[in-house]
Amino acid sequence: MEHVDLIILGAGAAGLFCAGSAVRPGRRILVLDHAAKPGEKIRISGGGRCNFTNLATAPDRFLSHSPRFAASALARFRPEAFVEMVDRAGIAWHEKTQGQLFCDGKSTQITDLLLHRMRGAELRLGTAVQGVAQGGERFVVQTEAGAISAGRVVVATGGKSIPKMGATGIGYEIARSFGLRLVEQRAGLVPLTFAEQDLALCRPLAGVSVEARIVHGGGDFRDALLFTHRGLSGPVILQISSFWRPGEELAIDLSPGRDVAAELKSARAQAGRVAVATALSRLLPERLALAIAAEQGLANARLADQPNRVLDRLGARINAWRLRPVGTEGYRTAEVTLGGVDTRDLDAKTMQARTVPGLHFIGECVDVTGWLGGYNFQWAWASADAAARAA
Ligand code: FDA
Repeated sequence: MEHVDLIILGAGAAGLFCAGSAVRPGRRILVLDHAAKPGEKIRISGGGRCNFTNLATAPDRFLSHSPRFAASALARFRPEAFVEMVDRAGIAWHEKTQGQLFCDGKSTQITDLLLHRMRGAELRLGTAVQGVAQGGERFVVQTEAGAISAGRVVVATGGKSIPKMGATGIGYEIARSFGLRLVEQRAGLVPLTFAEQDLALCRPLAGVSVEARIVHGGGDFRDALLFTHRGLSGPVILQISSFWRPGEELAIDLSPGRDVAAELKSARAQAGRVAVATALSRLLPERLALAIAAEQGLANARLADQPNRVLDRLGARINAWRLRPVGTEGYRTAEVTLGGVDTRDLDAKTMQARTVPGLHFIGECVDVTGWLGGYNFQWAWASADAAARAA
């Protein structure tokens, strides 16, 4: 059997970063992945430009059953430390909005940085991991190509999102096989799906984008909402999807910061001859204004003819559009998997399983999930660094 010092399962963001932080002269490190290429999710991330960190990283930007768990690793490996690496590699970047840092060029520059950093470790692709067992002081990693033994194992196999790209959920099976608890997994940062009657409004508006605010289940986000042929998407929907549970109703504010009913009443007092749809189009994108006016039976109505009751109804329709998603698009399109290895069974400083010395879990397979905006990569780097210091 082949013997090495450290095996890292998964050559994604967390696994590659961990290998780079763990390399030491004379130490045999093996990174295994069943994919043909490393860092496939990095490649497609951020629309191809990788939103590699967020300067506003703080524990409250993450969902977990133990909200304080991530604090230690996040404090010890800050976004600035990753930016320094990016700068040293000569990768140009820009801040898009709200602390989100993106590459100016392709996201594969980040993968190249990670691969360069882990020189000295061996990357073995096309090797599917089947399980991990303990054999005395060492671990035995079972792969399709045979067994390999190691003194330490870091599990960085990610979550279940986008199975087409190689997600398997094997990290959860490994955790369970060692008696660790799991927090139920579900798709996060994912478009929501809607019933036919809601789609009837959304479909003709496909391509329209509006700034919206949604407060729900502890989340409070103000960002772009995008109408699509399949319903609603855009950053504000992806963000709130992580807080939404099946059966719950959402109230979407399509004109945050404005009291639409009050503004319509004051417009009526000043220029009542104007059409309702025209008055609305001063507050909303024109196509959306026309659609809402038509939906409310006010397509050809004049503002002057509308009693307060109608304007209040219209205001509520825009400031608190109530609708009940029927579900999410699921792991097929989800950016992340919520839940995972229960942090109560991991040491926050080392990511090591409390009852299994030498076995670590990092990245997305752990029950720590960031908001949209570079937080998930920052968690991958920080948790990987924490494990590497100990491994
Ligand atoms: P990751 O999934 O990256 O890696 C796990 C690796 O394990 C994979 O290479 C997989 O092939 C391998 N593996 C799985 N099962 C295996 C098995 N049985 N045997 C061997 N190997 C196995 N985040 C962010 O911060 N900014 C962004 O811009 C984006 N954008 C984005 C876009 C899209 C479309 C998606 C889907 C996701 C994002 N994300 C993101 C989220 C981010 O990609 C994610 O949080 C990290 O990739 C997680 O890193 P991990 O290394 O934990 O898992």
